[in-house]
Amino acid sequence: MNLDDSAFLRACRRQPVPHTPVWYMRQAGRSLPEYLKVREGTAMLAACADPDLIVEITLQPIRRYGVDAAIFFSDIVVPLKAIGVDLDIKPGVGPVIANPIRDAKGLEALRPLEPGDVPYVTEAIGSLVGELGSTPLIGFAGAPFTLASYLIEGGPSKNHDRTKAMMYGEPHLWHALMDRLTGIVLEHLRIQVRAGASAIQLFDSWVGAIAPADYREFIAPHTSRIFAGVAEVPRIHFGVGTGELLGVLGEVGPDVVGVDWRVPLDEAARRVGPGKALQGNLDPAILLAPWEVVEERALDILRRGRAAEGHVFNLGHGVLPSTDPDQLKRLTDLVHSFDPDTSRL
Ligand code: CP3
Repeated sequence: MNLDDSAFLRACRRQPVPHTPVWYMRQAGRSLPEYLKVREGTAMLAACADPDLIVEITLQPIRRYGVDAAIFFSDIVVPLKAIGVDLDIKPGVGPVIANPIRDAKGLEALRPLEPGDVPYVTEAIGSLVGELGSTPLIGFAGAPFTLASYLIEGGPSKNHDRTKAMMYGEPHLWHALMDRLTGIVLEHLRIQVRAGASAIQLFDSWVGAIAPADYREFIAPHTSRIFAGVAEVPRIHFGVGTGELLGVLGEVGPDVVGVDWRVPLDEAARRVGPGKALQGNLDPAILLAPWEVVEERALDILRRGRAAEGHVFNLGHGVLPSTDPDQLKRLTDLVHSFDPDTSRL
């Protein structure tokens, strides 16, 4: 089988598939003992700049679970670090920014990204494409809104207050910030596609905090520019708590809309409308329940997923650190044994 015929790429393009493809957000990470072992003594951002570690960690979930796609091991703040933004990833906390951006002067920290800023990305993807053979590699980036929230707040935020204050109160500054971030994000995705990534996912994890009309005004022009700039590969758009936004997240140009666990996939298909595939949407916390519960919920999702023109099975958000890898292995096998034509195992 060749890469182009892989179930994952076919489902993204809404073509018939022999089985529903499956991968997991955050599949390479803290729930895997082999990950903890290779990461011992190396800080997260240092690991993201080490091509050998990137290759090894990206391949670990492929070996263990046999999922249908690999996701490049990195983090959404890597391109910001690469252009010199003073930040760190604190274990158990997330990205922390030394000098939050709150005025026009702060924008100067955001110069354009160039391929030479992330040589380890190009190098690691080159090796991965050879190792992965017919398994697609998903490149990714954080979306401008989610990155802006970290940059403005200075770290993780529950309500994104300062971010919204800038968006509503200083729209010129907001759009200037989003414009710079859009350039950086688009170039980062293009670097990954040029190096051999066969699909991309844009993570707008925290955009569920925004109402649809405000998304259209303050965010859509920027995300549209990103999707238009990487049209040569399938594009996935994902956020959490986006039930009210599913339609507009599809309108800005992705091929696949990611759905969290709050909206059933048949209802999500109705909200997104024709011409899109869907990705999702098992609540990651379900994996902490006994296998019988996981099985029943996963089958329900697989059946509802038939209402979409293409379905990529995934969780509704990232794998939780306490997840037993054996549950993910069983889930992967279950998804693969489901017949999308008859809805039977
Ligand atoms: O999905 C994958 O397996 C690929 C790797 C990946 C990481 N981060 C590795 C990581 C991906 C796709 C991301 C994206 C990311 N990073 C997002 C969007 C996805 C989402 O979850 O919504 C966001 C919001 C971030 C920012 C970030 N980085 C957070 C919130 C954290 C967790 C902090 C913590 O420790 O609880 C990180 C750190 C991070 N990124 C880790 C990993 C494996 C854990 C750090 C470690 O293992 O030391």
